[in-house]
Formats: sequence, structure tokens, C-alpha cells
Amino acid sequence: MCGIVGYVGHREAAPIVLSGLKRLEYRGYDSAGVAGFEGLPSGPRLKILRCEGKLDNLIQTMKRDPISGTSAIGHTRWATHGRPSERNAHPHRYKEVVIVHNGIIENYNELKAGLIRKGHEFSSETDSEVIAHLLQVSLEKEGDFEMACRQVVKMLKGAFALSAAWTKDPKKLFVAKQQCPIVLGLGKDEQFIASDVPALLDYTKDFIFLEDGEMAFVEPAHVRIFTFAGKAVNRKSHRVEWSLAMAEREGFPHFMLKEIFEQPRVLRDTLRGRIKSQFNGIVFDTVKFKDSQWKKFKSVSLVACGTAWHASLLGKYWIEAFSRVHAEVELASEFRYREPVILPQSLCVAVSQSGETADTLAALTEAIKRKMNPLAITNCVESSLARRAKNVIYTHAGPEIAVASTKCFLAQTTVLCMLAVHLAKVHQTQSSKWITQILKDLAELPEKVERILKQNDSIKSIAEKYSQFNQYFYLGRGLSYPVALEGALKLKEISYINTQAYPAGEMKHGPIALISEDWPVVCVAPKGDHQEKMLSNIQEVKARGGRIILVGTEGDEEAASLAEVFIPIPKVRVELAPILTTVVLQIFAYHMAILRGTDVDKPKNLAKSVTVE
Ligand code: M6R
Repeated sequence: MCGIVGYVGHREAAPIVLSGLKRLEYRGYDSAGVAGFEGLPSGPRLKILRCEGKLDNLIQTMKRDPISGTSAIGHTRWATHGRPSERNAHPHRYKEVVIVHNGIIENYNELKAGLIRKGHEFSSETDSEVIAHLLQVSLEKEGDFEMACRQVVKMLKGAFALSAAWTKDPKKLFVAKQQCPIVLGLGKDEQFIASDVPALLDYTKDFIFLEDGEMAFVEPAHVRIFTFAGKAVNRKSHRVEWSLAMAEREGFPHFMLKEIFEQPRVLRDTLRGRIKSQFNGIVFDTVKFKDSQWKKFKSVSLVACGTAWHASLLGKYWIEAFSRVHAEVELASEFRYREPVILPQSLCVAVSQSGETADTLAALTEAIKRKMNPLAITNCVESSLARRAKNVIYTHAGPEIAVASTKCFLAQTTVLCMLAVHLAKVHQTQSSKWITQILKDLAELPEKVERILKQNDSIKSIAEKYSQFNQYFYLGRGLSYPVALEGALKLKEISYINTQAYPAGEMKHGPIALISEDWPVVCVAPKGDHQEKMLSNIQEVKARGGRIILVGTEGDEEAASLAEVFIPIPKVRVELAPILTTVVLQIFAYHMAILRGTDVDKPKNLAKSVTVE
């Protein structure tokens, strides 16, 4: 949700800010803008350029009308308050102050009303603009930028990451963080600000991660960090191992396709070092629980949003089936405002690619308040979720840039499967032979995913045949039900096709009324437990004229004979089939979206990291 980039140093700032914004565009693309201080003989002059729509509009404008100077802040917006327009685009200026903001200022109405009473006029409909006005008021009183920032930050309620600058001291940028991500990138006689690490990988690998309730003054020679209460903070920097190549398309037409094709590597990295060499157990070296503690857990609550919630649903099925530990899964946005019954010795597992999703963070905080033991599964080192949970299992997928999550889903499911195996081992619910075999089978998955990727062209041809349909059902039973949900979400979010996913057994309770020739049905039906029930449900749909696209196991003639189109996955033990069937549905969704001409990496109305409620 909104991307912020800032630079102060000795180089031309605007191109650095623009290149960072380009890498953050997945956070929002309703509008974009840059504010830079141009050095004129008469003193610095603040120049702001803003454009509605994608960043490319701003890039073209800046080609015609460049901003020169060595300090600048920029923003790419995902609209919350005020529709996407140039007027509502950031940066927002009020007299001597310019700001960029990510998040929501919850008390902006009250603050704005007070300012209007004092005669202030606002030029946008955003909540953010009040920050610039408040800073100016404080500056007029105090005459000191740092003092003004310290005062204003205490007046703001809500979730925010912001950066501000003052025309009279343009080599000092202010940054504050409260429940929205912001990182400081460190250089020699130059410093950087960004919402996320990949924005700055061109320039630095050394980062400082601010905590909630912290602010910083960023100048070319140094950064100084304080709490909102004014206490100085001594924070060590952190070297990030992600390479720039990992955040680039590497010849693929879209990040989504690149990320789908990266999945064999992602699975290997996620499994590496965790499966013991004798295939007799799992090691999570970033989790502090001892086996005795793992053994005490009587219940697991998984909280997540979107795709991570689908992965968590698989996690629930695996945990209960393998370890017989009670598990439940809940949308983080519901969990946080409910009165859940928490059993003693409960583990709360928060799953999030970004580690910054506001609802998931809040759900984990609620769980900690209710004395649950927290564990995060995330892709982002030093993300807010990782820091809050303290016990973390990283998914090692590398930066995921496409808004539609693919490789992180596979990595999350792999971690959750290992977690379930680990619980089974400590709770002694499975034999050592079973444990060894499933770990060996997990280790074989990357090669099986590679085989599915080889079907890219044939899945593309299937998409060509079906791209004209405007609605789709996705059906699955048991472990294939979360896969159906995920496949349906992928298609919906990038191609804007109406999809509905159901457990196949539910069709006859209502949705089957919709079956027609115009409404193809994607059935996830690999060989294994209860497949015959799924095949009966497919027969029911066929009998009513439904057209079946079936994802099943290679060589399964019976399943193939029911389908208009059959897409095979390699033979695999039934528990691990979801990791393979999902890949087929990701590829299908990708090609459907391409055929429908949508912007696959940046679907409309969405943003990668949802840091507002
Ligand atoms: O960063 P998170 O995993 O917490 O994000 C959760 C959802 O916002 C995310 O999975 C979303 O549903 C994606 N658009 C799915 O492709």
C-alpha cells in the first residue's frame, strides 16, 4: 500500500528515487510523484511533479521536465482517502514543508477540522495532507524542523510510514514509522529511504529497520533514530543477502511468470538445511522452541489473509492429519476482532509473504495478548511480523514482485507441511518410517515441479481454448479444496474473470444450479484418498452440461475420461499433491490473463502489501 523512496547525498536524487519507485510500483499504481530540491544560486528551490496513473506517466513527465538536485522524496500511491488523481497524488506540500505518506491517519478529520478553523485551506482530499499543515504550524512556532517533527508525530493516530522535508534544510529528511514498513538504506555520504528493501538493492545492501513508534533524521553523513518519546535509539544495520537479479525479470515477460518458473529453486531453498540428512526429522533453526515445548502445544491457530490464508488452510489439514494436534485457520481480519476461545498451550502461526499485512500483524498481536505462543512464517527478514513473533520460519523465496502471489504460496505450503511433520514427530503420532518417507517425497518435489513447468505451452493452448468464458467454477475435496480456492483467486485477481471455488461435495447444496455450458468447471482431482467421491461429483456436474477441465495424476485414465481437457501432474503421494496441482492452476491463470490483455503484474485495484485495514 503506497511506496515511499527518499535520497539524500551527493548524487542526482530524482533518478534514484524514480528507480526505487519503479521497484515499489507493486505497492500501488494509482498515481506517483517526486519532490526534489534544486540547488539554485539563490538557495534551494522545491520542485514537485505528480501524475495520475502508473509511474510511467511520471517518468515521461520528468523526461520533459527533469528535477535536478541531491535530495528528493517520492511516492507511488494506492488510494485510500480521495480518488486517484493528480491532486491527491503525493508529495503534498504546504508552504515550506513537503511530505509523502503510506497508511491511514485515523484522526485526520479531527486534525483537519482544527486546521480549517484556523484558516487552513486544503488542496487534496487525502488524510495525508494534514501532516504537512501540522508540520508548518509547528515550524512557525518553533522555527526548528526536528522539534516540529517530534511534536507532530505524537499527534497522529493510525498506521503510517512517512517522510518529510523542509525547504530551509533540504539535506535533512524526516522519517517515521507506526505499523507501516519503512527501511533506511545506508551508503557512504549518502542515505536512502524506502518502503521495502528491493527498492534500494541497486545502491546498498546495508539496512536499518525502524520499529513501530520510531523516527529518524536522515542526512548524508548519518542517520539518527529516536523513539516518538524522544529517546535516542542505537540500532545496528543489517546486511541483506538478496541480489538485484532476484528482484528483476531476467528475460521473462512478467514477474509473475518468472516467479512461477522460479518455484523449483524456491522449494529447494525452503527445504535446504531443514530436512535432516538422515531424513529423520526437521530443524527450524530460527525457532527457539525446544522439543519439550513443541510437545506441549495442544492446539494451533493459523492466521493469514488471501493466498497466505489458503496456504494456512492446507497447513490445518496437514497438522491435524499428521500430528493429531487440533488446528484451526482463520482470516486475520476476523480473528483480530473476535472473542476467540484460546486453549492453554496454544501456538499461533501467522503466515504472510510480506510480513507487513496490517490484519495479520494485528491478529498476531492479539494472539500474543491472549498468551498464545507466536510463530511467524514469512518471506521478509526483519519484517514487522518477524520481529513481533520473534520465532520465525523464513520461506526463502526471494523478493516476490508480482502482485499475485505464486512462489510464496508454494514456499508457505512447504514450510507448513514440514511444520506438520515436525509436530507429528514430537507428538509421536507417526512412525519413523513414515517420517523418513514423507521427507524424501518432499525433497523430490522440486524436480516434479520442473516437469509441470515443461507443460507451459500445452497449458497455454488450453487457456487459448477457454479464454472467452467469463465465469469459472473451481472444485476440490480435502487437500484439493484449498488448491481450488487458490486457483480461483489467481484467475480472478489477474484476469477479472468471475470465479467461485467450492468443496466439490457442496455443489449439490446450491451452486450446481449455475452449471451451464458457459461456465467451465476446473476440477482438482489427483489420485488418492476419496478421489472416487470427487469423480462422482464431477459426473453430477457433467450430467448438467458442465464442461470439465481436470487437473489429475498422469496415467489416470478414469479421471481423464471425464474431462473435456485433462492436465496431468507427476505421480506423487496424496498429501503432497496440492503443491503440484497449484502450479498448474497458476500457469493457467497467467495465460488466461495474458489472453484477456490485462496488466498481469499490476492488476487493477490491488497492491502487493496491504498495510491498511
Ligand atoms: O503479504 P501477505 O502474504 O500477508 O499478503 C496477503 C494477501 O494480501 C495476498 O496473499 C493477496 O491475497 C495476493 N493478492 C494473492 O495473490
